[in-house]
Amino acid sequence: MKGIPDLFEFTDGSPVKTEEDWRKRRLEMLELLSRHEYGFTPEKQGETTYKLISTDTKCASGHGVLDRLEITFPTQKGDFTFPVNYFHPTGNKKHLTFILINFRPDPYDMYFPAEEIIDNGFGIAQFYYEDITADANDFTSGIAPMFERRNDGTDWGKIGMWAFAASRVADILLSFPETERLAVIGHSRLGKTALWCGAQDERIDFVFSNDSGCSGAAYERIKHGGSETIARITEVFPYWFCENYKKFAQYPDTRPFDQHMLLALSAPRFLGVGSADLDDWADQYSEQLSCVFAGDAWTKIYNKPGFVGPTEAAKIGDAFSSGSVHYHLRDGIHFLGRADWNAYMAFVKSKKFS
Ligand code: GCU
Repeated sequence: MKGIPDLFEFTDGSPVKTEEDWRKRRLEMLELLSRHEYGFTPEKQGETTYKLISTDTKCASGHGVLDRLEITFPTQKGDFTFPVNYFHPTGNKKHLTFILINFRPDPYDMYFPAEEIIDNGFGIAQFYYEDITADANDFTSGIAPMFERRNDGTDWGKIGMWAFAASRVADILLSFPETERLAVIGHSRLGKTALWCGAQDERIDFVFSNDSGCSGAAYERIKHGGSETIARITEVFPYWFCENYKKFAQYPDTRPFDQHMLLALSAPRFLGVGSADLDDWADQYSEQLSCVFAGDAWTKIYNKPGFVGPTEAAKIGDAFSSGSVHYHLRDGIHFLGRADWNAYMAFVKSKKFS
């Protein structure tokens, strides 16, 4: 389609054909998204460690274990510690664990059915995003002041910081013998965060964005009535992004990137995007279109099915899961609910690993 920033063309205009080319193009796209949208993520400063605070061996009807952990990682200005609730099936069986970047600190929460997730054989490690840094235009809390600022318009915003913390959870989970695979998942602003985390952290096998909308999964150049725009998001939530992002507020089509690039950075791993019928603000059809456009990375570079589904707007109840890129549209409002989890878990179960 005309005007779509080309995934398969280097900034200098030369073509991206092979997997080796793609690995280089990947770095270019990460640089574009860092410089113009989310800001640059600082280097990891050293080893991540954890402490087991308590264990409930009979959580979720006695089907699972809840370990309450404290995770510590070094920053440029000392150590930083935050709590994580790690639910996993009893018996140390190997499993995939979802890293859920969540809106509330409580171990049990309306955004995830702990018992069902465990009964499906998965683990879930969730942390509260404001334990990392406040969701406010204030860079004095949590890890925000613990890294030097670049002061050139490219400093990481809050999305970058929350995504960085999700990767520190991955550091610890990967040291556990029962961890077979990892997924990262978030809803709305934290769906944007999950996508940015998965784009950067290739240790994560499944990247899930639920209702992430503008500056998440939604393709910005094709927006539909009543949906959020870059102009609006950078006015109300400027601190989620780097300062440079505002430059595009009035001229979004001049950007050398769009959100399909963010999604394509998950290739050749697995990607899942969910939308809700009544969530026009997130622009469901634009979220689907990003999957369509990003899917080419799997097909053209990796010879794998990418997004296997229509280019016309999905109908309520549709779920397209046969490729490496899943998309579903469920009924209801902006929420990370049971139907979303069931769709994501079914997608994971349907995939074989080589
Ligand atoms: C606002 C914002 C969205 C965001 C959402 C959320 O609606 O405009 O971009 O996704 O909050 O995080 O709940």
